[in-house]
Amino acid sequence: MNLWRSLSGRRRAVALAGASALVAGGLVTIPVTGAYAATQCDVAYTTNDWQGGFTATINIKNLGDALNGWTLGFTFPNSSQRVTQGWSAIFSQSGQNVTARNEGYNGSLPTGASTSIGFNGSWSGSNPKPTSFTINGVACNGGTTNPTTPPTTPPTTPPTTPPTTPPTTTPPPGGPKVDNPYAGVKGYVNPEWKAKADAEPGGSRISNTPTAVWIDRIAAINGTDDSSSNGSMGVRDHLDAALAQGAGYIQFVIYNLPGRDCAALASNGELKPDELPRYKAEYIDPISAIQGDAKYRNLRIINIVEIDSLPNLVTNTTNNPGGTATCDTMKANGGYVNGVGYALSKLGAIPNVYNYVDAGHHGWLGWDSNFSPAAQIIKDAAVASGSTVNNVHGFIVNTANYSALKEPYFKITDQVNGQSVRQSKWVDWNFYVDELSFAQAFRNELISKGFNSNIGMLIDTSRNGWGGSARPTGPGATTNVDTYVNGGRVDRRIHLGNWCNQSGAGLGERPTVAPESGIDAYVWVKPPGESDGSSKLIPNDEGKGFDRMCDPTYTGNPRNGNNPSGALDNAPISGAWFSAQFQQLMQNAYPPLS
Ligand code: BGC
Repeated sequence: MNLWRSLSGRRRAVALAGASALVAGGLVTIPVTGAYAATQCDVAYTTNDWQGGFTATINIKNLGDALNGWTLGFTFPNSSQRVTQGWSAIFSQSGQNVTARNEGYNGSLPTGASTSIGFNGSWSGSNPKPTSFTINGVACNGGTTNPTTPPTTPPTTPPTTPPTTPPTTTPPPGGPKVDNPYAGVKGYVNPEWKAKADAEPGGSRISNTPTAVWIDRIAAINGTDDSSSNGSMGVRDHLDAALAQGAGYIQFVIYNLPGRDCAALASNGELKPDELPRYKAEYIDPISAIQGDAKYRNLRIINIVEIDSLPNLVTNTTNNPGGTATCDTMKANGGYVNGVGYALSKLGAIPNVYNYVDAGHHGWLGWDSNFSPAAQIIKDAAVASGSTVNNVHGFIVNTANYSALKEPYFKITDQVNGQSVRQSKWVDWNFYVDELSFAQAFRNELISKGFNSNIGMLIDTSRNGWGGSARPTGPGATTNVDTYVNGGRVDRRIHLGNWCNQSGAGLGERPTVAPESGIDAYVWVKPPGESDGSSKLIPNDEGKGFDRMCDPTYTGNPRNGNNPSGALDNAPISGAWFSAQFQQLMQNAYPPLS
């Protein structure tokens, strides 16, 4: 996981557009065109058919006035045709009539803009395509209407049908929840992580620290027989162990979106980009069933939701330098936004469950071009798939990253010889120099986007300590902004965009409750000692790729300013135990270990 993702300031905000036709699995491709209209809208309907089933992709282009909310209507020619699962819109079907209403994130469609939605369906006999479409009741009728003539066709499918997508089980009533779930109670210590830490010389100094349990694949829900990567205990085992420990809170990481880790390779997962239905049915639903068990009602169950996913949709689509096709796909198919929304709505409905959504880190979202667009897409996800902002208790920054909590020897407003530190190579026009200032500012931005004013932030301080002998003890020389920043910064990475197994890093602040205004806690979400990714290709059956940002011989790419990766050598795949890194983290801890 984790990424850098920053980059050189001034990134462009990404417009929600979209519409590259996504072709999902299937045996026969039937390239098609359903109907085209000139009056207000242009709809292209294509399918991939196989015996009894199909995937449809619908591209909608708005040729009329800007739309703020839209409902597409069409009629299946054949009574056997059914929509079974839609994405990027809320589908409903009554008889042969189908409506698809926009999601929160794609409702705004300026003149000339397009969006792409889709669904899986079933059929018997034959699967003919609908021949006409409406948008907000107005026909898109094949381009035969004079564009200046107002449409005369009455709405055939008024957009009055309530959206469906009910949760598959009735959730228990949500809330009331405590304001800060970390306050006043003891945290759960993962015995599997503790055993690995205890096996290391000196590890017992920190092995009683609460760390998060990563549910990083479907098999991790029920637990596995092997403990190769992440341990063999399932979610229920951990909850039972938490009760046995007398813990008051337990932390899980929800981390299995379709097309996971779209901008990097080290934490690619098991679900393919089009497997949102499996994410819901085989991953979120079973976790929700376990977390909702009344037996655990007195535990505060904290979920860290989907690291890196939503920020990737802002900075790592291909309209950004170094962006990837997978991030384009995940943006166009709504898999991340709808997956996060679904997770929030199911898990947030449980009264003792607290969701904290991932919000990148300052070296990723700290430029104004990324800051507000990221907050917006997080908001869109929080209200997707039937969720509301009330399912979000707060946010987490710096998960599994290395950005310093506080830079004690320079601040963003400092100047050297009349130049702002923002002009230094290290800061590169960012508006923040550390995680604390970023977290507090991003919290305000999220509230301005519509999140509740009592949300709390978490900061993952497991590996951002930057102590040891290389830690500066005062400001850098005032020769110029670069000497000043480079001499004084405690974050000793080669580049702020480096994210994999960083050489020189140390353990950061031990978990702390309510340390600063707006911050619910400093937490250890990335368990120290677990690798970020392998330093060379290691075949595995977890879907994990080899990312050269984990290779110490790599000389970089535009996303880390073409700098060396700064990664430690001889690393195993992400999540697996990396003893040398654990030793280094203890060595360079800040505050130091006693
Ligand atoms: C890996 C996960 C692992 C987590 C915690 C991620 O980078 O992809 O498999 O559980 O780190 O170590």
